[in-house]
Amino acid sequence: MRTAALHNLGCKVNSYETEAMQQLLEEAGYEIVPFHEKADVYIINTCSVTNIADRKSRQMLHRAKKQNPDAVVVAAGCYVQAASEELKADLAVDVIIGNNKKQDLVPILEEYFQDRTDCDHVIEIGQTQEYERLSIHKIADHTRAFLKVQDGCNQFCSYCIIPYTRGRVRSRRPEEVVAEVKELAAAGYQEVVLTGIHLSSYGVDFDEEHKETLLSLIRQVHEVAGIKRIRLGSLEPRIITEEFAKALADMPKFCPHFHLSLQSGCDETLKRMNRHYTTEEYAEGCAILRRFFDNPAITTDVIVGFPGETEEEFAVTKAFLEQTGFYEMHIFKYSRRAGTRADRMPDQIPEQAKTARSEVLLKLEKQMSKAYRESFLGKKKAVLLEEKTEINGTEYMIGHTMEYVKAVVPYAENLKNKMVEGVLVRAINDEVLMLDESWKVV
Ligand code: F3S
Repeated sequence: MRTAALHNLGCKVNSYETEAMQQLLEEAGYEIVPFHEKADVYIINTCSVTNIADRKSRQMLHRAKKQNPDAVVVAAGCYVQAASEELKADLAVDVIIGNNKKQDLVPILEEYFQDRTDCDHVIEIGQTQEYERLSIHKIADHTRAFLKVQDGCNQFCSYCIIPYTRGRVRSRRPEEVVAEVKELAAAGYQEVVLTGIHLSSYGVDFDEEHKETLLSLIRQVHEVAGIKRIRLGSLEPRIITEEFAKALADMPKFCPHFHLSLQSGCDETLKRMNRHYTTEEYAEGCAILRRFFDNPAITTDVIVGFPGETEEEFAVTKAFLEQTGFYEMHIFKYSRRAGTRADRMPDQIPEQAKTARSEVLLKLEKQMSKAYRESFLGKKKAVLLEEKTEINGTEYMIGHTMEYVKAVVPYAENLKNKMVEGVLVRAINDEVLMLDESWKVV
């Protein structure tokens, strides 16, 4: 029996695909071993989102070859798409598999083991309209399953390489999504997170006769028995209309947890980023959500130190964040990616200034996050328990509310994957609330 080890870099979509590749290998009879062990095949699902991600991808490929010089080292995914020539010349890499070809991993390996010649499996990703058929049937974590429903991006933000590594928008047919959700529900999952490279574009590639939208997809997933919660990955603000919010609010399984990518709260910076909305439109999206949902969780991403971001522009962003109010903000220091427009822009910001701005926003994040979390004290909430944890020497079972607020009950056996309900009474640390003693399994 051959052994294989996998390593994932990059985003949630990439980790879904790594999981799917692992299951393909298992089904083909490979034994999966941890990455640090000696294996016959190493698969590194690479990322190319920044220059640093490129470097990490190269490092992992070299580490694999070092661990076992006789192993077949496979580079897969986005970095392959971005740097196939470089990788072909790299002696540590035996086989390259670009995006949309990961589904063929097993036959590609079989062929390679036969004559050790066919090692290049990269297509012109910008030309394809095909959604790659990869799926998963089981996941290690037993309560929440991430599901990829969409690939590619047509947005071309000036800092981002992803449209070049992932190609144009391709959506997965709802029938296939529903079939996978049913399998996951049968395996015991109660929560699914629909995710994609640009989820808001779901369905734009379908022809009129077979039209579907993100909303129609969510409706179909909502019908699946056994699934109790549906969450969405990152959305773009302009998708939030009254009609969209109202339809979602009418679905009891839908979690009021919206990740609306902002990136900057300053219109001038947004223009340079080639983001296709204004701060006014963004604020309107949040206002709509707050009209249709009671205290929804709104989370976001912010990039600080984008080329040309002056102190004034940064101050405008900070004020916008304070005004809008967020449950969580992921703060990123702008990181250059060769080949993007932003990388060629003048007025790149020194690292020191980026760090200083990031610290300011991290502090703000902590305050806002605490305030949001504590706004639930005294409220009755359902919590899906996920795992055992230890906080200040005491054991608990921890899970999330529908708004993705962490909450605990005292540890007891057989509570994993149970939905419990109770009143949130106090914070046990900066991130976690506790249910009162009268909580019960529902
Ligand atoms: Fe990286 Fe590709 Fe995801 S570049 S962030 S793995 S889409």
